[in-house]
Amino acid sequence: MREYTENESDNKKINFLKPCVYIVGAGPGDPELLTIKAQKLLLAADVILFADSLVPQQILELCRDEAEIIGTANKTLEEIVPLMVERVRSHKSVVRLHSGDPSLYSATREQMQLLAEAKIPFEVVPGISAFQAAAAKLKVELTVPGLVQTIILTRSSGRTEVPPTEELTSLAAHQASLCLYLSTRHIQDAQAKLLKHYPADTPVAICFRLGWPEEKIWIVPLEEMANLTEQQKLTRTTLYVISPALKQATAQMLNTGVGRSRLYHPEHSHLFRLQE
Ligand SMILES: C[S@@+](CC[C@H](N)C(=O)[O-])C[C@H]1O[C@@H](n2cnc3c(N)ncnc32)[C@H](O)[C@@H]1O
Repeated sequence: MREYTENESDNKKINFLKPCVYIVGAGPGDPELLTIKAQKLLLAADVILFADSLVPQQILELCRDEAEIIGTANKTLEEIVPLMVERVRSHKSVVRLHSGDPSLYSATREQMQLLAEAKIPFEVVPGISAFQAAAAKLKVELTVPGLVQTIILTRSSGRTEVPPTEELTSLAAHQASLCLYLSTRHIQDAQAKLLKHYPADTPVAICFRLGWPEEKIWIVPLEEMANLTEQQKLTRTTLYVISPALKQATAQMLNTGVGRSRLYHPEHSHLFRLQE
């Protein structure tokens, strides 16, 4: 059995993990975007369960050669949870790897509930979500003073229904920076709903497999979002960022001071930089 030393500073040292399930956010796909904690857990875990279709192979290259690696794409919750329970009861450490951050569209709630009922200890390790990876790739800030100060993370209804109170048309009314997950198959419908409130030329970043070797990003006007999705045959692992902030992300605009944050402005004082 391996145990994990929380304050271990040397990444290369093999840490020892306690028998427990670690629900870990793997980030968008680039292994360099794993947290240090996630990396340490992957280096030391006895068993790794991962969503095959969502976590790229490159992340698993960190795992020990002797680790048991189990793909979960073809498994039900009723198969996955007993597997984790059995391994922990056999004094093994288990990493349950989810793409991005486990707090978003990861079906972790029901896993945690069943683990708690079985009295299996578990911990959650956050990861970088796709929307954060997208903003970094695009070199944009999704909140721009005077333009947009709200980010909406949402999805289209599919097999999982979105509650009527969160209907896309009503969210679009805010004209916020809107990050649309899990929506390629319903993109015509999503576009029509978004166009009820966003101008047709609002920029949309269509981000396919961010951080994967085959990553692609297109920036198109909202009215072309669905066409491009269909032309490129995008059916999975695609995030849409619809935002007026994408327009502002040009060096020219920053030079003129448009949309400049007050935080670093010389006329703005705050706790760590009092105005003279
Ligand atoms: C099941 S959800 C998981 C979301 C994940 N927990 C997160 O925080 O990013 C899968 C959806 O997230 C988005 N997504 C996750 N990883 C992505 C990536 N590397 N590139 C683009 N979109 C991604 C896509 O919309 C995909 O359909």
